[in-house]
Amino acid sequence: MPGLLEDRVALVTGAASGIGRASAVALAREGAKVVVADVAIPGGEETARRIRAAGGEAEFVETDVSVAAAVERLVARAIELYGRLDLAHNNAGIEGPRASVADCSEEAWDQTLAVNLKGVWLGMRFEIPAMLASGGGAIVNTASVFGLVGGRRVAPYVASKHGIVGLTRAAALENARKGIRVNAVCPGLIDTEMIDRAVGGTGGGLAGARRSLARAVLRSRQPAGRMGTPEEVAEAVVWLCSDRSSFVTGHALVVDGGMLVR
Ligand code: NAI
Repeated sequence: MPGLLEDRVALVTGAASGIGRASAVALAREGAKVVVADVAIPGGEETARRIRAAGGEAEFVETDVSVAAAVERLVARAIELYGRLDLAHNNAGIEGPRASVADCSEEAWDQTLAVNLKGVWLGMRFEIPAMLASGGGAIVNTASVFGLVGGRRVAPYVASKHGIVGLTRAAALENARKGIRVNAVCPGLIDTEMIDRAVGGTGGGLAGARRSLARAVLRSRQPAGRMGTPEEVAEAVVWLCSDRSSFVTGHALVVDGGMLVR
């Protein structure tokens, strides 16, 4: 049976691990040729290798999404490799510091906003013209439940993710008559390296036991009694990229196991 995205060309940022890797793999499974982008070289190469090992087509392009020239090069490379660009998942992100509005340093603020918000804007800045030249397309931006509600001591992250939801809506309206749909996914708690870092790393010993406890507490607070998997978010990305969501644009799709409806 042909995949949902046969012959499409996709680009995924932050694809060296977690949600981005799962998305790249899922898009390739549905037939898309995937350009894997990340600052992390070994992880990015590994994602592309896994896709090729499963019979798909993929290339890794080292990219810092906060640098305009790098993102411009990434989109140009996608066209050079595969001749067009149809789909983009702007997903690269960092958690930023544990900082409240009143104690966040200027440097931490700038860095979090540069990767999370400016990175998504730069992605769309170069993807949209390339998609228009290819006859249309679909863009998915990774926001967060923190793009819709507030949180304590994650001020720059919350601001950046609300910004992504706003930017997604602006881009959706601007492109609604041009054949490009633009949506966001808003994941809840997803079991990735970002969560490992939030609970303090992955090592063993007493610190490891404390982290296991922290993870257990996090899980127990979830309505579903567990975290989500990167693959569960990737399925939403595939749907938003596919023609099955042809009348969906400007939407912020929550994938959170019920976290926000409590
Ligand atoms: P992750 O840490 O596994 O993946 C993030 C990826 O982005 C990494 O491969 C990292 O190297 C890359 N990256 C960081 N800075 C970059 C830059 N300047 N240029 C290019 N790549 C860069 O974490 P995860 O969880 O997969 O995060 C993916 C996205 O999902 C992020 O935007 C995050 O904010 C978002 N998210 C994650 C949630 C979770 O619970 N894990 C919940 C809601 C949103």
